[in-house]
Amino acid sequence: MPPLNRCLPALRRIRLANATFERSIARQTPRLPALPAYALLPQRRWQHAATASASQETSNEDEAGQPTPSKQIKYTSDSYPDLKRDSRFKQLDEADVKHFKEILGSSGSLIDGVTQDAQDDLEGYNADWMRKYRGQARLVLKPTTKEQVSGIMKYCNEKMIAVNPQGGNTGLVGGSVPVFDEVVINLGKMNKIRSFDEVSGVLVADAGVILEEADSYLAERGYIFPLDLGAKGTCQLGGNVATNAGGLRFLRYGSLHGNVLGVEAVLPDGRIFNDLFTLPKNNTGFDLKQLFIGAEGTIGIITGISVHCPQRSPAVNVAYFGLDSYEKTQQAFREAKKKLGEILSAFEMMDGAAQKLYAKANGAKLPLEGEYPFYCLVETSGSNGEHDEAKLNDFLEHVMGEEIVADGVVAQDETQVQSLWACREGISESSQHFGGVYKYDLSIPLPELYDLVPATRQRMEDEGLLDAEDDAKPVMDVVGYGHMGDQNLHLNVVMRRYDKKVEAALEPWVYEWVRERQGSISAEHGLGLAKRNYVGYSRDEEMIKLMRQIKQLYDPNGIMNPYKYVSGG
Ligand code: FAD
Ligand code: MLT
Ligand code: ZN
Repeated sequence: MPPLNRCLPALRRIRLANATFERSIARQTPRLPALPAYALLPQRRWQHAATASASQETSNEDEAGQPTPSKQIKYTSDSYPDLKRDSRFKQLDEADVKHFKEILGSSGSLIDGVTQDAQDDLEGYNADWMRKYRGQARLVLKPTTKEQVSGIMKYCNEKMIAVNPQGGNTGLVGGSVPVFDEVVINLGKMNKIRSFDEVSGVLVADAGVILEEADSYLAERGYIFPLDLGAKGTCQLGGNVATNAGGLRFLRYGSLHGNVLGVEAVLPDGRIFNDLFTLPKNNTGFDLKQLFIGAEGTIGIITGISVHCPQRSPAVNVAYFGLDSYEKTQQAFREAKKKLGEILSAFEMMDGAAQKLYAKANGAKLPLEGEYPFYCLVETSGSNGEHDEAKLNDFLEHVMGEEIVADGVVAQDETQVQSLWACREGISESSQHFGGVYKYDLSIPLPELYDLVPATRQRMEDEGLLDAEDDAKPVMDVVGYGHMGDQNLHLNVVMRRYDKKVEAALEPWVYEWVRERQGSISAEHGLGLAKRNYVGYSRDEEMIKLMRQIKQLYDPNGIMNPYKYVSGG
C-alpha cells in the first residue's frame, strides 16, 4: 500500500504488524489447505467421529488435550427419550431393498444394512458433524437421476417409508441425519453442472454438486457463487438451498431467496416439481420454489437448481483488526459502510475468546501481537485494484487515526488472505474440537448483539458449569463471533463433553433472551431437530399453523424428514 502522509503513526502500526504477521505466516502456511482454508476439515473430523466407539457423555480429549476421534456418539433417541418412533412408518424388509435396487439399477448405489451387516458403512450417514446426533438408518440410497428419486419417493409414499434427504451432512441443527430408521436419500451422486450462460451468469446444476466445486467452475469463467461458507468443500448446492444458507458473502450478494432463480424437486408422492426457470423475472402467480428454499427437506427433495452468479471481483483485499470494545467494533462497521461503500464484501466479528480458541485448537499464532477483546475481518472486492486500495487506505487511515481500531494487518498476497480468513472460518471447527459444542445461530439487533455472550458466560458460571482449566466442569468456554454485517451472532458454548444440565440451562433461556429483543432463533442454520420445539419464539401461532398446512399439502403422509421442525412425530 502506498505511504500516506496523514496518520503516519497509525500506518506504521499496520506496517509493523504486517511484518510480524509475515513471519508468523511462514510457520502457519504449510498447515493450511491451498484454497479455500478449512474446506475439508469438517469432513475429516466427521469421519473420525463416525467410526468412533465410546459414549457421548465421556470426555473427548486425551491426556494431551487433543481430541480423541475414537469415541462414539450417543443415539439421538437415547439423548432425547421424548422422541418416539412413529409406528405408522414401515420397517424395511428384503422386498423393499430389492425394489430400490431395481430402481437404482447399476448407475445409482445403495448401502444395505437391512439384509446384511453394513454398520460401518452406514455410520457416516447416521452421525452429524457436531457429533451430537446419531440416527439408526439401515438403508442409504444414492440416486443419479431425478427419475430415480421420483421412483423411490413414489414407492416410499405408498408404503409409508420415512425418508431423510441428505446433502453433504454439514448441517448444524441435526436435520441432515435420521432420528430412527428413516431411509437416507443422499444426493452426492447427482453432481453434474448442467449448464452455464457466460453472458447472464446463470448456472444450472444438480443438487449434489459440492459448493466449492461449483465456485471453482465459476472462477474459471470469471464468476463467483453468491454463497461462501466454511463447509464449502463438503456441503452441496441442494443442501445449501434446502437450508437457505447465509454465510460469508451474504452482506454483498444477499439471500438465496433472491439468487436462486429456479428449483427442480421431487415431491413426496414422486411428482416432479419443475420450476428450473433461468431468468430473473417471473411474475406469474405464487413463487412456489421459495417454499423449498429453507424447507430443510420437509416437503420434497431438491434435485436441481438454477442460480444467478455475479461477476468475480478481480481485486480482493482483507484486513484484520484488534479492537478494545464492542462499541468500537460497531463504529468500525459504520465506518466501513461509509468509507468502503459498494466494495465492502464482508464484515465479520470475533471475540477474543473465539480467537484464542482457534489458536489453541490449531496451534496457530494469531496475526496481531497484542490481545484484544474483539477482532474483526473486513473484506473488499471490486473491479479496480487502484480504486479499491485508495478507498481502503482512506478507511484504514480513518479508523486507525480516530483510534476506533487498536491494531491491524492487511493481507499482502493470496496466502495472507487465506490465513486471515482461516482465523475466522476456523472457529467452527475449533469450537467442537475439545469434545462438543452447543451452537446458537441468532439474529439480534446490532446494539445488543454481543450482550448475550457475557450473559451466557455468567449463567454458566452461576450454575457452576464453566471452568477454563477444571476438566470436571463440562463447559470450557463461551465464545461469540459471526456475520456482524448481517446482525447474525454465533454464540458457541464450548464443551468438554455434552451434558444435559448445560442444555437445560441454555434452552429455552437463550431463545427467551432473543425473543425479548425481537430477534430470530435461527439466522442461517435452520431449525432441524435442535430447534423443533422452539419455533414459537420467532414465529407466531398463525404463522406456524400456515407452515403446518403447507406441510400437510405437500406431504400428507408426513414421510419427509419426520421428527424435525414442522414434521410432527
Ligand atoms: P445437509 O447437512 O446434508 O442437510 C441440511 C438440511 O437440508 C437437512 O435438513 C437435509 O434434510 C436437507 N437437505 C439436504 N440436501 C437436500 C436436498 N437435495 N433436498 C432437500 N433437502 C435437502 N451455514 C450457514 O448458513 N452459514 C455458514 O457460514 C455456515 N458455515 C458452516 C461452517 C462449517 C465448518 C460447518 C460444518 C457448517 C456450516 N454451516 C453454515 C452449516 C451447513 O454447512 C449449511 O447448512 C449447508 O447449507 C448444509 O449443506 P449440506 O449439503 O451439508 O446439507
Ligand atoms: C460460521 O459462520 O462460521 C458458520 O455459520 C458455522 C458456525 O456457526 O460455526
Ligand atoms: Zn455463520
